[in-house]
Amino acid sequence: MRVMVVYGSDQGCTRGIANRIAGKLNGKSLDIKKARSADLEAAQLLILGSPTYGCGDLQSDWEDRIAVLDKADLDGKTVALFGMGDQMTYPECFCDAVGILYDRLLAKGARVVGFTEPEGYDFSSSAALRDGRFVGLLLDEDNQSELTDERIEAWVGGLA
Ligand SMILES: Cc1cc2nc3c(=O)[nH]c(=O)nc-3n(C[C@H](O)[C@H](O)[C@H](O)COP(=O)(O)O)c2cc1C
Repeated sequence: MRVMVVYGSDQGCTRGIANRIAGKLNGKSLDIKKARSADLEAAQLLILGSPTYGCGDLQSDWEDRIAVLDKADLDGKTVALFGMGDQMTYPECFCDAVGILYDRLLAKGARVVGFTEPEGYDFSSSAALRDGRFVGLLLDEDNQSELTDERIEAWVGGLA
């Protein structure tokens, strides 16, 4: 299975996680700064990752290059999402970027997989929470780094 992990990252956390996820699935990782729509279309399993910045915004490279996603033909494509955030400092917009990507993917007819349960997190609001579940893997390296390994392991196991 061709796995492609496309990510944006300001400070390197999301890049590191993208590389780890790609490694576990024998896939490749690609910075959104270098990605083309064809790279997204070529994947059998496409994984998109973004940290949240501002309060509830996509990472800036994702914002600058969102046309790469919007122009890709992802109808019926299996896509999974992950995001990095800080639930203690930003409890009212925890990992909102994952919800932003999710809405764009739904509008494009993609099949989004890899939902997770919100147990073990402490936040007040998140655009990534839909019908009581997160629409992807949410990681908090600022406050819960000790849980990251097991969260990745469980999530990747459900995708493969
Ligand atoms: C200025 C600033 C704004 C942030 N805004 C949010 C936010 O709205 N929601 C959230 O969950 N995390 C927020 N974060 C936390 C980052 O998303 C988190 O630290 C993430 O791991 C950074 O990923 P990166 O190293 O790949 O850039 C913010 C961090 C900074 C420095």
